[in-house]
Amino acid sequence: MKHFLDIHKTSKSDLRQMLDQAAAMKAARNGHPKGTKDADQPLAGRMVALIFEKPSTRTRVSFDVGVRQMGGETMVLSGKEMQLGHGETIADTARVLSRYVDMIMIRTFEEAVLLEMAEYATVPVINGLTNRTHPCQIMADVLTYEEHRGPIAGRKVVWSGDGNNVCASFIHAAGQLGFDFTFTGPPTLDPEAEFIDLARAQGVRVEVERDPMKAVEGADLVVTDTWVSMHDSQSTRERRHNQLRGYQVNEALMALAKPDALFMHCLPAHREDEATSAVMDGPNSVIFDEAENRLHAQKAIMRWCLGV
Ligand code: CP
Ligand code: NVA
Repeated sequence: MKHFLDIHKTSKSDLRQMLDQAAAMKAARNGHPKGTKDADQPLAGRMVALIFEKPSTRTRVSFDVGVRQMGGETMVLSGKEMQLGHGETIADTARVLSRYVDMIMIRTFEEAVLLEMAEYATVPVINGLTNRTHPCQIMADVLTYEEHRGPIAGRKVVWSGDGNNVCASFIHAAGQLGFDFTFTGPPTLDPEAEFIDLARAQGVRVEVERDPMKAVEGADLVVTDTWVSMHDSQSTRERRHNQLRGYQVNEALMALAKPDALFMHCLPAHREDEATSAVMDGPNSVIFDEAENRLHAQKAIMRWCLGV
């Protein structure tokens, strides 16, 4: 069973194969990401369940469109309207869904829910974001970097802000794909040490630098994300803003990175908080390519899961 649960749980060669396939499938659409079906229909006759316990725009639409382009069908399910975890165990939901559908994508809160789903499902399970990681996003981000600037191996990626779930998957990718990673943010919002240690053990440089101006020196890519994630209590909002204000990605900060450094944000964004519109809409920003590439990257992930 091939689940796509996290970047560090997927082999380097499989990650590379998915990225290459995503690029090839994107190219085959000749600049038309929308609408028409792919020439081959690798998901013909397949049904995919898309389960959301949290809101989503990009993940929901890109998975849905991707499955349809490949000839499959989807059902989008809201966790709240299911028995998931309250009317029955996650394991029982996994066993039942496996009798109806060919693949499950789930966005949930606790990672334990994803892992239990994967343990008991007899069909592939894909991580569509948990409180801890967001691997599909980073596959799209790597695809985006490489289509603009070539191989990401050996480059320097700087994350400024909250060391959250998206940051965690970037650190996993650093270890697996061989690029350096610098986190800059306040100590209370550091990424988990376990993730940093793992990437370091894989031989890449992972640094924690409190001064954002020093951190971005020599950066090939500067990344940020919301200061308050969906799983964070709104009561922490003011404290987080106070802690993170100095880590805003603005034109002054970008000017200290390499001149051709790209800027990324997984979206949704709070403009003028974690990043200014001048940066988000500026010449180095590739935020909407990232959003589009969710579609192409996830199509390759789904094909890998199903072996088609
Ligand atoms: N980037 C991302 O996962 O966006 P959504 O929350 O809209 O799916
Ligand atoms: N860190 C954000 C990412 C949203 C795509 C969150 O978890 O809310």
